[in-house]
Amino acid sequence: MEHQADVVVVGSGLAGLVAAESLGSSCQVTIITKGRRQQSNSFLAQGGIAAAIGANDHWKLHYQDTLSAGGAHQRRRMVKKLVQNGPDITKWCQSKGIIFDIDSAGKVALGKEGAHQRRRILHAGGDATGAVMVSSFLKTVEDYVTWREDETAYELIVHEGECRGVRTVTPEGHYHTYFSKAVILAAGGAGQLYPVTSNGKQATGDGYSLAYMGGALLTDLEMVQFHPTVTRGDNGNTFLVSEAVRGEGARLITKEGIPIMESHPLKDLAPRDIVAREVTKWRNKGQKVFLDIQHIVDFSTRFPTIYKWCSDNQVSFSDGKIPIETGAHFNMGGVVVNSRGQTTLPGLFAAGETAYTGIHGANRLASNSLLEACGFARWCAEEVKKMVEMKNDFPGESAEERNNPSFTKRHLPSKEEIKQNMHDGAGVIRHELAMKRSLNWCKRHLQAIEDSFVPATSEEAEIRHMLVTSSLVLESALNREESLGAHYRNDSQNRERKKQWMCHNGMTKTLIK
Ligand code: SIN
Repeated sequence: MEHQADVVVVGSGLAGLVAAESLGSSCQVTIITKGRRQQSNSFLAQGGIAAAIGANDHWKLHYQDTLSAGGAHQRRRMVKKLVQNGPDITKWCQSKGIIFDIDSAGKVALGKEGAHQRRRILHAGGDATGAVMVSSFLKTVEDYVTWREDETAYELIVHEGECRGVRTVTPEGHYHTYFSKAVILAAGGAGQLYPVTSNGKQATGDGYSLAYMGGALLTDLEMVQFHPTVTRGDNGNTFLVSEAVRGEGARLITKEGIPIMESHPLKDLAPRDIVAREVTKWRNKGQKVFLDIQHIVDFSTRFPTIYKWCSDNQVSFSDGKIPIETGAHFNMGGVVVNSRGQTTLPGLFAAGETAYTGIHGANRLASNSLLEACGFARWCAEEVKKMVEMKNDFPGESAEERNNPSFTKRHLPSKEEIKQNMHDGAGVIRHELAMKRSLNWCKRHLQAIEDSFVPATSEEAEIRHMLVTSSLVLESALNREESLGAHYRNDSQNRERKKQWMCHNGMTKTLIK
């Protein structure tokens, strides 16, 4: 079936919703999402949104903390733009109806998280910041946005070097084609490439894979952030225990009570990559690691979402110790965009975790992602609006060759096999041989799929996206020979840091920084 819209947004997380809100009712906006509209990583975000609004704070301190956590592997101009605008962005959120938690003095309450010099994390509903923000923006846009749920984008429509829409498939194998003047990829990240993750089921790297196959430039895919504190329920499901919990005094300890972050100057609030490696090292030695929350007296009211999940999922923590492990959490790399969200493919924009704005460097500072999603999605929408106003024609069926799905028999690996392959090759601690083995495995499976592959179902579309994104992560990881931030190689002693590897379909290039 064919559809038209001024703008197609792929993804219903915070970036997609803020973009839709900022485009406003003068644009025809269609949001395509794989599941239900509330299902996104943004909805699951707990900690909050960082902004230098405290009396003793300044954007320059926020800037320093962002660079220092990220290994100074950033586009500094972009970081400055974001953190300088941080206070205005949070005010704008309040003007849109978002109510942040307040302290006993009636001021916005500010939480603390790893590697922040100041308390600067605004939160809502205790530890339900993402749910509050997403629910609010869902209400704002509901009257003028066209929703398409349960559809998976499997291909961008690219004609004469321009993105002109997107093709989707449903779980039952029905196809839709959307022609549009602009496409905004806001499809989130790729935590589901790994067996343990804080991410929702939908985070299968679709945005990276779509952009790559469409010919846009991507970079820094090796920079995968693992969160140090993910817990596991009795049915094997995993759930994030926010860094804000350590901000309120929780400590990481072994079963014997040894505090594992004692030797770091910032202790349990060290940058996330460092804490994740420490947890992994202890666990690799066969030791269980726990988050000791005994000293947080109001745990159930300050962190109601975590408390409820742990209680509902039989996580045993009545002794004040939550068992934790590391889990894939956030992709710092992505589709290269400028400060207005434009990718290198005309007509294609990206925002949120899918985009590489250069804010997070080699290790994202906690709670900078909701800020990035709001700030850059708004700036992106301003640019998209201008483009929509300039274009009068809708590209139609005649503007491109139609794919006629033909289903030849093919063998696709299972999602579980892909996750195991990524765990083996591109986990918290990496090694050349394992990376090569995992990359070859991905390449073998990708070679078995013909270029004109049309997925029979959304499940097949996701598996292909997972394979494409896995191979990009692995190839980028192999190319970065030194350890840097979240990309840690145990075979790279003292290798010099010099390269930034960029990739797009059929071409790769290495930038000397
Ligand atoms: C957390 O609450 O620990 C996650 C916050 C973030 O990833 O920024």
